[in-house]
Amino acid sequence: GSQTDLIRRLPKAELHLHIEGSFEPEQMMALAERNKIVLPFKTLEDAKAAYAFSNLQEFLDLYYQGMQVLRTEEDFFDLTWAYLQRAKADNVRHVEMFYDPQAHTERGVPFGVVTDGILAAIKKGEQELGITSYLIMSFLRHLSEEDGFDLLVESEPWHDKFIGVGLDSSEMGHPPLKFERLYQRCREIGFKLSMHAGEEGPPSYVREALLDIGVDRIDHGNRCMEDPELVSILREMQVPLTNCPLSNLSLCVIDDLKKSPVKAQLEQGLLVTVNSDDPAYFGGYIGRNYEQTAAALDLSDSQLIQLARNSFTASFLLDADKQRHL
Ligand code: ADE
Ligand code: ZN
Repeated sequence: GSQTDLIRRLPKAELHLHIEGSFEPEQMMALAERNKIVLPFKTLEDAKAAYAFSNLQEFLDLYYQGMQVLRTEEDFFDLTWAYLQRAKADNVRHVEMFYDPQAHTERGVPFGVVTDGILAAIKKGEQELGITSYLIMSFLRHLSEEDGFDLLVESEPWHDKFIGVGLDSSEMGHPPLKFERLYQRCREIGFKLSMHAGEEGPPSYVREALLDIGVDRIDHGNRCMEDPELVSILREMQVPLTNCPLSNLSLCVIDDLKKSPVKAQLEQGLLVTVNSDDPAYFGGYIGRNYEQTAAALDLSDSQLIQLARNSFTASFLLDADKQRHL
């Protein structure tokens, strides 16, 4: 319909995308063959049949398994380049992508192999697709804060290549305050700070991220809606939320897209954005996230336009660059 056209035409920024979560089963099978790795599934149908999750951890188990196929700089280049071409098709103009270095270094793939492969594709995307991309280095929260400090030291030669840091993986039992000293150090370095919070975890995790850590952006943040005072603080501070509707549905954060908080968050004046999270696993890239959410929540054209504008406002672009897009 006409909203599909509007969505395709709107210039968008994608602010919550794990590059390893854009690893399509087709590409996984091709790289497995190239690297002489045997996958636990034989056909595409077998792979996709496994993509039925009842919570975050069930997804994470498959996500970490799938990425074991990624070994060489060329693999990380090809992964990132494939994503950027899909983003181009959805009229994405700017991307802030997470990656999980610890998930690669702990299986013996050097930090530089991973990072340089991604960075080379980012450069090509700027030159050939006109898409700017910022890279966000994510810490795995199921690991220790000390492991995070080790990553921070190992990554030092590349620090000027990152816009900021993130915190992802298993949320429950790993609250933001577990990483208070690490984030203090990241702030001193000059990184933008984001954390996944309130995806499965309680509103208190969102409070910690916002008020104790002082993050610049909250990833997901769904469960803030259970705490009206927290909603008021988020509105007052205009700290962005990167919502991921199809992810929320796939991981049973919501049992129906009609229960996505996006519309309520817009109506309550929060700086909410729509993103794809791990599009190869959750059934759609950013365009499909906008489309399905609009259909389920009966969003108006002006709400869709607001979401696209929010994506630039909520980005880590400099104000002058935001203005070019708004
Ligand atoms: N890593 C990749 N996707 C994630 C998500 N949705 N939540 C937490 N960690 C993740
Ligand atoms: Zn995520």
